Amino acid sequence: MRHARCPRIGGNLAVRVSARDSSHDWCSLLSPADSLAPEWLVVPDDVNDLPAAVWPASAVRGADGELRIAGISATALAETYGTPLLVIDEDEVRSRARAFRSSFDAAASEYGTTAQVYYAGKALLTTTIARWVIDEGLRIDVCTGGELEVALAAGVAPASLGFHGNNKSVAELERAVEVGIGTIIVDSAIEIERLAAITARTGAVQRVLVRVISGVHAETHDFLATAHEDQKFGFPLPDAEQAVARIREIPGIEFAGLHCHIGSQIFGVAGFRESAERVLELHAALLEGGPVPQLNLGGGFGIAYTSVDDPTPIEMLAGEIVAAVAEGCAARGIAVPALSFEPGRAIVGTAGVTIYEVGTTKDVALDTGATRRYISVDGGMSDNARTALYEAQFSARLASRLGSGEPQLSRVVGKHCESGDIVVDHEYLPADVSPGDLLAVPSTGAYCAPLASNYNHVPRPPIVAVRDGRSAIIVRGETIADVLARDVGVGASENHG
Ligand code: LLP
Repeated sequence: MRHARCPRIGGNLAVRVSARDSSHDWCSLLSPADSLAPEWLVVPDDVNDLPAAVWPASAVRGADGELRIAGISATALAETYGTPLLVIDEDEVRSRARAFRSSFDAAASEYGTTAQVYYAGKALLTTTIARWVIDEGLRIDVCTGGELEVALAAGVAPASLGFHGNNKSVAELERAVEVGIGTIIVDSAIEIERLAAITARTGAVQRVLVRVISGVHAETHDFLATAHEDQKFGFPLPDAEQAVARIREIPGIEFAGLHCHIGSQIFGVAGFRESAERVLELHAALLEGGPVPQLNLGGGFGIAYTSVDDPTPIEMLAGEIVAAVAEGCAARGIAVPALSFEPGRAIVGTAGVTIYEVGTTKDVALDTGATRRYISVDGGMSDNARTALYEAQFSARLASRLGSGEPQLSRVVGKHCESGDIVVDHEYLPADVSPGDLLAVPSTGAYCAPLASNYNHVPRPPIVAVRDGRSAIIVRGETIADVLARDVGVGASENHG
């Protein structure tokens, strides 16, 4: 694959050209649609392939060409549960949870410390998924009273929970303290006083971490970066010492250490290393006033959404991040604290595949002379808001059969009444994709269902877990009755027609 600049359209083109073809006029090799392709997008050699980085390990093409996940065909899933449908591969979630656990355990024990892995429930929290990750030895981080109730409903021991949030209400804090939550990650001076009052009233002693902003700006979408100064989370480093001093005065609050999360969908370790370095400076200073047993470096480990994304393997991340902390501690002559991490996306992201049915296709002629293929599916921004929110990129494949057409640059769009309702902005799909075909969008396990809405009164899809040839609903799909349920005018007798 080469990228070539085409003078005819004045843009960069992604073209498939072998070394032998290099003397060709590349522009003449291109269909007009290719001129719309972003520079990073590669024309697949096989438009039916399933690049390993974006699919669960169990995803294969059966002998009939159909996509199968955990041994079940896309058609069987669609027939049983309808479309759209979010499929979660249980083994993929479990094996990624195990990989985080064992990699961080191994890395920490090399430096004589321990590492806890909290699954960041905001990525996708259901009682079933909570049980899977607990079963694999993880803890869970929740960030609202609602997530806390899901974890408790799953039977998770409150001591295994961490509670985040920049605006926890008094009622949420009371509930967390009352159930005996393991750790509250305090985010503001006001929250410290709320906790002081609650613990004084109840006599409880609550363990807390103090969230700080390290000032490291992760290289990710602005909305996904959380440790640069101008945002709402945590204490700026210069203010944190005072916050900790105040906590240390309060008998009902036990200071356990610092927390920092630099953002989300981050590749590599440089950001984590830099952040750890800055936070350790404060950690070392705080040791002069009392114990600082823990350090939590948050989550944010990136995953592949398209075949060009190349995430760092978990073992490597764990090894390098823990080594960086250990070096920072050695340089300051302090003990390596107990470490914790909060991956969300990297545990469930590639375990999820959304299956849609194609409703219409359209070739739209643009002013530039190029033609864009639009493929409309039966969901959209109500089940996957990430493309509209963050300009996120996804990939897609024809799922119900092998495509026989040439790769054609396509845009997969939803059924909502707005032009930004894009599911997959740019993807090469077989030119013969037609109404009634099933399309699968991989890497939709994280932050798709949690961000889902009822926009245009579209019911939210079910979540179905698959494993070893079996499938089960873990969150049922909404019905139109659900959609109408909160509208108190339904059934009113007057006719306003
Ligand atoms: N810890 C804290 C304190 C967080 O705020 C987050 C994510 C995580 C851990 C987990 O990050 P992860 O490992 O999943 O990247 N809706 C956005 C992502 C928002 C992330 C919010 N915080 C998206 O769809 O990309």
